Amino acid sequence: MASFVEWLDKFCISRHNAGMNYAHSTPHSPSYDRHMVSNAYIVQSYAKINLTLDVLGKRSDGYHELATVMQTVDLYDTLCFVATDEDRVSISCNQPELCNDENLVVRAAQAIRKRLNLTQGLLIELHKRIPVAAGLGGGSGNAAAVLQALQRWWQLPLDARELWSMAAELGSDVPFFLSGGLALCEGRGEKITPLELHWPLAMRWLLLIKPAIAVSTARVFRNLTVNHYSMGTESRNVQAALQSKSPLEPTDLHNSLERGVIEQYPEVAQARKAVIDAGADYVRLSGSGPTLFTSFSTLAAATQVQQCLQTQGYEVYLTRPIHPGGDEIQFFS
Ligand code: C5P
Repeated sequence: MASFVEWLDKFCISRHNAGMNYAHSTPHSPSYDRHMVSNAYIVQSYAKINLTLDVLGKRSDGYHELATVMQTVDLYDTLCFVATDEDRVSISCNQPELCNDENLVVRAAQAIRKRLNLTQGLLIELHKRIPVAAGLGGGSGNAAAVLQALQRWWQLPLDARELWSMAAELGSDVPFFLSGGLALCEGRGEKITPLELHWPLAMRWLLLIKPAIAVSTARVFRNLTVNHYSMGTESRNVQAALQSKSPLEPTDLHNSLERGVIEQYPEVAQARKAVIDAGADYVRLSGSGPTLFTSFSTLAAATQVQQCLQTQGYEVYLTRPIHPGGDEIQFFS
């Protein structure tokens, strides 16, 4: 691997010296926007919601078998990669409590360096906007963005299968973010079936409501009982409805984790009631929460509910479905 390291070091130096805009010489990224200036590389990593999340049962490895339909939304974090002379990965973040080696961003970069025996140092500047420990996949999306960014920036000899397996090792949701968009995710979440991005016109505006607590995914799963398990029917039905462009009813959107989270966290139950009282037709939990989502057919209706919740002190994000690679969303009514 020594020759590759030498090549990588020379590559970084020559790019730096040439000061060229590398992004313009690469094919269009299917999963995120990126710009490279000199020896820095910038990408965005998006949040997701779980339209449905069925927990089918507990596996012998301690994880739970899932069927979940996920969609990326246009709430994003920004990651800026800067080549350094030190043989290490460091992080700087607008949320100082996230500046540590346990951050998935650092672990993803370390995994790549270790896999390929790289000595090239790296500073990752992470600008967080996606709420942390919120059920929106922020950390998982960041990890996938690191894998893809380094792969492209450094032109690494990693194929899609290797990236997927590194992603799955970093976390159950990470492989989804390698492609993003709309997908059915099975297994512990790592088996991805990308879906055509057909989206109901009536759900084109999404509100994300984040109660002021953090929720531990591990704890939510630990507290599940067989009564919370489902057959996966809801996720399969939602997948079929979206693909055949049939309307979705709020009752089609199921999350097996929601009942337990509402029982354990009164703040989530309270927020749920506030969203309905503010005029939303329905409200669902995203992932293991505590973020809730609802949707609207018009911007006016979404903004009205957003303002009503914000005056009560809720953190609310107005967003929309997005395919990070720029694929068109086909809205249907
Ligand atoms: O895979 P990840 O590290 O994101 O998962 C966090 C925790 O959530 C796991 O340690 C596990 O307790 C729980 N989990 C689960 N079944 C899944 C995914 C996550 O039990 N399919």
